[in-house]
Amino acid sequence: MNFQVTIDSIKDIRADLEVVVVVDKKFKHPFVQDKKVLKRMGFGGSQGEVALVATHNRLYVGSNSLKSQDIRPAIASAMRSLIGKKSYKSIKIATYLSHTKCTATLRAMAEGMVLGSYTFDRYKSKKQKSSIKDVTISLEGYAEHEVTLDSALRAVHYAEILADSTNFTRDIVNTTPEDCYPETLAEIAQKLSNNSGLKCEIIKPKRLAKEGMHTLLAVARASRHKPRVIHLAHKPKNPKAVVTLVGKGLTYDSGGLSLKPADFMVTMKSDKSGGSAVLGIMKAVSEMNLPIEVHGFVGAVENMIGGDAYKPDDVLTAKNGKTIEVRNTDAEGRLVLADVLCYAQQEIKADYIFDMATLTGACVVGVGHYTSGIMSNASEVSELVVKSAHNAGELATKLEFNTYLKDTLKSQIADICNISNTRYGGAITAGQFLSEFIDEHHKDKWAHIDIAGPAFVEHEWGENPHGASGAGVRMMTTLLEKLSKTQTHK
Ligand code: BES
Ligand code: ZN
Ligand code: ZN
Repeated sequence: MNFQVTIDSIKDIRADLEVVVVVDKKFKHPFVQDKKVLKRMGFGGSQGEVALVATHNRLYVGSNSLKSQDIRPAIASAMRSLIGKKSYKSIKIATYLSHTKCTATLRAMAEGMVLGSYTFDRYKSKKQKSSIKDVTISLEGYAEHEVTLDSALRAVHYAEILADSTNFTRDIVNTTPEDCYPETLAEIAQKLSNNSGLKCEIIKPKRLAKEGMHTLLAVARASRHKPRVIHLAHKPKNPKAVVTLVGKGLTYDSGGLSLKPADFMVTMKSDKSGGSAVLGIMKAVSEMNLPIEVHGFVGAVENMIGGDAYKPDDVLTAKNGKTIEVRNTDAEGRLVLADVLCYAQQEIKADYIFDMATLTGACVVGVGHYTSGIMSNASEVSELVVKSAHNAGELATKLEFNTYLKDTLKSQIADICNISNTRYGGAITAGQFLSEFIDEHHKDKWAHIDIAGPAFVEHEWGENPHGASGAGVRMMTTLLEKLSKTQTHK
């Protein structure tokens, strides 16, 4: 998609179609020119409602307000309605409606364009793509509100990078386990580093064993696909902060010997969403060239059944020496993350460390499909994540740790169990399990982000398509952008 930003008036711009945002439900705004037609069509201007007035080459879309969180999904709906319509190749849109001085709305608009045009048609014989190639944004009214052309251009450029990186993550997650296994994730990371300034290191099983990552290796054992740990690094000179990201990259989660019921196994290709988000964030950070050092680690593993599968009753020793009683092989993500978190902390002393994972069904039960659960030993850190998520247009909520739930992870024969002895509070107990693998130096610098709900949803919602949403990419890149503007590294 080619974006152009201009101070030319909207009526002087040539395009196949004009996209008009309708906020005022009474259509009083002078730019809503087809009032009668819209009324005849039954268009009410509700959030995301779309009406194409083809005779006048205008596409109307309703939005509850001009705030980013409404504009982004509204524009995405408009773009989604154009998928498959081959006659429209260029669109124009005005920003006259905005009364804010900042470029947030503009950015949300551009993000909505790219996010809403996303399709995943790899497995379709008939390809359905968006035909929109050119987008011209008029700053007509914006100029009066002291937004320079320069800052507007920068906002649109960042929006494009962020939305493209989100779509990049969506593509990986939507790919089937037959076509995307640990080695594939490693190849994607390698390719990413070849096309950018990112450094890439792939750690294969022999070295994983030498590093003592036995819990990760146990989970991986029954699969014909050998595991990989990926380490991507973005290292600018004089970084403002050092941040480590760790992603759960289960390219398939059958549950292992604690096999998932058939209905629960479907969609488990999405168990690589945390790792895929880390890859998307690394892509965004390097393209934005943020003045912050970022290390992305991915534990890429397939959890399968077989004669040499790891078992409930096994006791495993993690990289930090802690022993774990396995009571359920479907709680595999935390075992993989335990080792990768230990490895990442050994390699990098960071100002912040975040892990992202589709870790628990309990998180989806607790907060619903659209929201990520944020857990941490330090409330400032979880609040930083929640705030960044909201600024980026993602939903996230804090889940608090407590000592009673911590006790439910106790084991009679090892240091800890991989599941809790209670049916309730599963998202938090999983987070508290991970906390056991965070060292003293990082204790108050870590947050765990459970994206099990929003990472993969089997219907369209807001700016997200059916399937993978790329959850975490906008949340975390926005957080990194914020950190890159404030000095935290000593
Ligand atoms: N990958 C799943 C969690 C999950 C469930 C993600 C639904 C997305 C949607 C994870 O590995 C898992 O199976 N967790 C178990 C833990 C249980 C055995 C304590 C769960 O949530 O049921
Ligand atoms: Zn599982
Ligand atoms: Zn899993």
